[in-house]
Amino acid sequence: MRKLTIAIDGPSGAGKGTVARAIAAGLGYRHVDSGAMYRAVGWKALGEGVPLDQEDAVAALAGAARIDVTAAAVTIDGIDVTRAIRTPEMDRAAAAVARLPKVRAVLVERQRQVGADGGIVMEGRDIGTVVFPHADVKIYLDATPEERARRRASDPSRSGVPSAVSDVATLLTERDRLDRTRAASPLYAAADAVVVDTTGKSVEEVVKEVMQVVEARRQPPATSR
Ligand code: C5P
Repeated sequence: MRKLTIAIDGPSGAGKGTVARAIAAGLGYRHVDSGAMYRAVGWKALGEGVPLDQEDAVAALAGAARIDVTAAAVTIDGIDVTRAIRTPEMDRAAAAVARLPKVRAVLVERQRQVGADGGIVMEGRDIGTVVFPHADVKIYLDATPEERARRRASDPSRSGVPSAVSDVATLLTERDRLDRTRAASPLYAAADAVVVDTTGKSVEEVVKEVMQVVEARRQPPATSR
């Protein structure tokens, strides 16, 4: 059966990671978290003292870096940053470097290479709009800001990070605003995306809903006679 390209976009805390992982596992596809690439670049820029608004310098750093995002770990130039990139400071650093068109160009190219053969579930902000505009399946996950903040505050990958729901809500709303209003590839649902509101739904319910969309696209188109 043909291997599909599945794009899952949406704001922070909408459930993209959990749902994308489950869909990829169910289909035997690769799951790639594109946000981890922006985080890794932000992490390296901060570590090297490169100002996050210096587009050419950050893009050069991104272009020279080897970034590997697998289900198990995120590494940049061989350094495991899986946990280090999940802090409020890295949330900000990722959003800052993601505003820079030259940095996006580098990472979008890498993302397209990773997904060249299909059989992939990639999550992010611009996967259905920019990275894979011809994706077989486009899902846009959303949820109320309150629910997203609650989920973020209890995200196990961010353990050790102080996370009162009200603080998380403030930071998350600000990052969303940046992601939605930036000039380069802002966050929005592609016209042909299926929008799924995950508020009040269990992971199982959302995965089932998304799988129904995937299954519909896997059926060969009806032949007209
Ligand atoms: O998904 P995550 O919260 O890890 O993404 C971190 C940041 O990276 C986002 O706030 C956004 O600014 C940026 N990002 C992006 N495009 C993507 C994925 C993430 O601009 N495809």
